[in-house]
Amino acid sequence: MYGTTGVDKSGAAMQKLDLGSEADSFAQGGNRLCFFHPMDAGKCVKTLRKDRSPELKQKEKGIKGWLKPLSSFDDNQQEYSTFLRIADIYGPQALQFIPRCYGMVATNHGPGLVTDLVRDFDGAISMTLKQYVWIHGNTPRVKNCIAAFQQAWETIGLPSRNLLLHNIVVQLTAEDTIQRLVVIDGLGWADVLPFGWWSRTLARAKAARKAERLTEAIEALLEIKRTNGDWGYHGWMEPAQRYAGVSTAPVATS
Ligand SMILES: Nc1ncnc2c1ncn2[C@@H]1O[C@H](COP(=O)(O)OP(=O)(O)O)[C@@H](O)[C@H]1O
Ligand SMILES: [Mg+2]
Repeated sequence: MYGTTGVDKSGAAMQKLDLGSEADSFAQGGNRLCFFHPMDAGKCVKTLRKDRSPELKQKEKGIKGWLKPLSSFDDNQQEYSTFLRIADIYGPQALQFIPRCYGMVATNHGPGLVTDLVRDFDGAISMTLKQYVWIHGNTPRVKNCIAAFQQAWETIGLPSRNLLLHNIVVQLTAEDTIQRLVVIDGLGWADVLPFGWWSRTLARAKAARKAERLTEAIEALLEIKRTNGDWGYHGWMEPAQRYAGVSTAPVATS
């Protein structure tokens, strides 16, 4: 039995997925907690951080915040609508670049968004592009992979905000083989009038600009590393986190 029983709006009994405590999350972003799906190691469930509730985020924006509906501050709900829209407009070809979404579920941390959890060949949770570049540098392998991604992202014209290195994960098929980059956060057009949804030509031009910026972002990150700068808050996972629950986890050597 994985859930606790709750009651939905109509009063009907409803199973809530029990994700454990906040400390059981495998990662936290600026807005959400990411949990393993208790019944499927290939999926994750994202819930809103209590300290980043839509109400608080709306308040922070002051008067401007009240001009927008509360739902527009709910990252999970927004992302779910975006996944649905992408599936509708772009079809299965989008799944090369983004995780598959399985909808929203009730959890003990509030509504949870269920998507594929991106894992490497050995079962580890794939690293963010930020961590990968920090560790390996801008190697020819990284350069080739970024170039291929930029080209493909432009061709398909997928909607995103600025593509951030900690919102992209690098999926490996072998220690030294990158299969693909997967954008796990920041999807959707941020424009007040998001014409990109209706014009594929515009979408491609915008997508090209977003993807091009990755080259600069990688250089900027490596400059921070060269100058012993601060890693920042987002996007690092220790091996123990990446291999949690994986029976073939490598043994730590130091
Ligand atoms: N589908 C996924 N597969 C693998 N790792 C993920 C996935 N989703 C999130 N992560 C990890 O969790 C971190 C936080 O998730 P994210 O969705 O970016 O949260 P937030 O919306 O709060 O920024 C990411 O930087 C990444 O390391
Ligand atoms: Mg994020």
